[in-house]
Amino acid sequence: MTAKIAPSILSADFMQLGRDIRLAEEAGADLLHFDVMDGKFVPEISYGEPVLRSVRKHTDLFVDVHLMIEEPLLNVESFKKAGADLITFHLEACRDPKRVVTRIRDLGIKCGIAIRPDTPVEALYPFLHDADMFLIMTVYPGFGGQLFMESSLDRIRSLRNRLTEAGLDTDIQTDGGINRETIQRAAKAGANVFVAGSAVFKGDIAANIYELKELVSL
Ligand code: DX5
Ligand code: ZN
Repeated sequence: MTAKIAPSILSADFMQLGRDIRLAEEAGADLLHFDVMDGKFVPEISYGEPVLRSVRKHTDLFVDVHLMIEEPLLNVESFKKAGADLITFHLEACRDPKRVVTRIRDLGIKCGIAIRPDTPVEALYPFLHDADMFLIMTVYPGFGGQLFMESSLDRIRSLRNRLTEAGLDTDIQTDGGINRETIQRAAKAGANVFVAGSAVFKGDIAANIYELKELVSL
């Protein structure tokens, strides 16, 4: 499967956001990962639709919105209007995940389903046919710059096997602690979309992206 790098702008310099996104785009970022935090599902509050509207005006990159918010059903439409190409929601954050999937699909955009590290990977199995992408969190959601949880590798493998058995080649995204040391292990386990925040935006953005891409294109 084609490996894709998704820089998470949570680690960008917000005073230079346009420049940072442009550098990432020019260096070959495949999509842009937009983390939304509500201070309830996760401790901090990040940014929302108004920032996405500005980002949308300045890039043609595919924008992947990661909603770390309670009851995402209420917000998916406004994020679509603000420019999301794909919306990922957390299975743990909603009472009726199928309703959220239907709402996202009805908006004409792609749908991702995420799980936290403490949710059994089997919880995704009833939804195998419902998502364009599954997100296996490789840290506890909420903050950039955390250490990759090695226990995620078995979870990625299990999901990849299960998808293959079902005849599906759905994207598996990993998010948290992806860097030069961890990206290849995640890829070997079966992930193919790699979110990277600090590993992209700390230091030389273009060099970081080239290096990460190189590591998974072998
Ligand atoms: C964390 C966010 C991530 C975060 C990743 O909850 O979902 O997207 O930006 O940051 P790094 O790559 O630094 O772990
Ligand atoms: Zn994220």
